[in-house]
Amino acid sequence: MTNTLKHIAIIMDGNGRWAQKRGLPRSAGHKKGAETLQEIAKAAADMGIECLTVYAFSTENWKRSKDEVDYLMNLLRQYLKSELKEIQERGARIRFIGERKMLDADIVAQMEHIERETENNDKLTFCVALSYGSRAEIIAAARQAAEEITAGRLKPDQLTEDVFSGFLYTAGIPDPDLVIRTSGEQRLSNYLLWQIAYSEFYFTPTLWPDFSADELKSIIADFNSRERRYGKI
Ligand code: IPE
Ligand code: IPE
Ligand code: MG
Repeated sequence: MTNTLKHIAIIMDGNGRWAQKRGLPRSAGHKKGAETLQEIAKAAADMGIECLTVYAFSTENWKRSKDEVDYLMNLLRQYLKSELKEIQERGARIRFIGERKMLDADIVAQMEHIERETENNDKLTFCVALSYGSRAEIIAAARQAAEEITAGRLKPDQLTEDVFSGFLYTAGIPDPDLVIRTSGEQRLSNYLLWQIAYSEFYFTPTLWPDFSADELKSIIADFNSRERRYGKI
């Protein structure tokens, strides 16, 4: 049996532990983790996955040391500059979800540039959760819905699940079919709480820098063997 698999969401965890195990600074894990992400994005595109969403930096990650946050932001700067050409060649569309006001202005400008340049691409939608927190996203959506209602543009009984979804950062993106978390932790860490109501979960002990296209394929095989019932019998 094969399940529909349009959207994979990944919690890329374990970079720090990967580095520590090797006696390296945590930054070395982030660097290797970014390379893994490139490999996995390519593999997902080659497999014809429509959408890949990755958790790159949470709202809670701002509480890490300044050194670590600076390192991650500089890594991001570097990739935003170097990857656009390849993204265009692959026909991928990039979206960023999260709280932009906490990010440096030059990074936001670069993100907006990439979103604009790729918005008409129709192969893989590559969605990067950056400065992302799901509860903040839901609150922002609720606020927007309240504003629409107060302004008389929306009646309370018109606020359906579909309409509410349209107020989330992920508007227009189908819900994830499969959520993968690496590094053995079995929690969601404030990721896509609304969107994963009926997603399948896969927790692997592999640390993110060691994750591979082969493991992704075997997880997809496992996903395909599952029966998704959605409450029916
Ligand atoms: C995931 O790896 C990357 C980010 C959260 C930015 P971690 O940095 O959380 O690595 P561990 O969990 O400490 O090993
Ligand atoms: C979740 O990982 C966020 C990202 C992968 C970007 P964390 O390492 O921040 O999550 P916790 O602290 O283990 O819950
Ligand atoms: Mg972690």
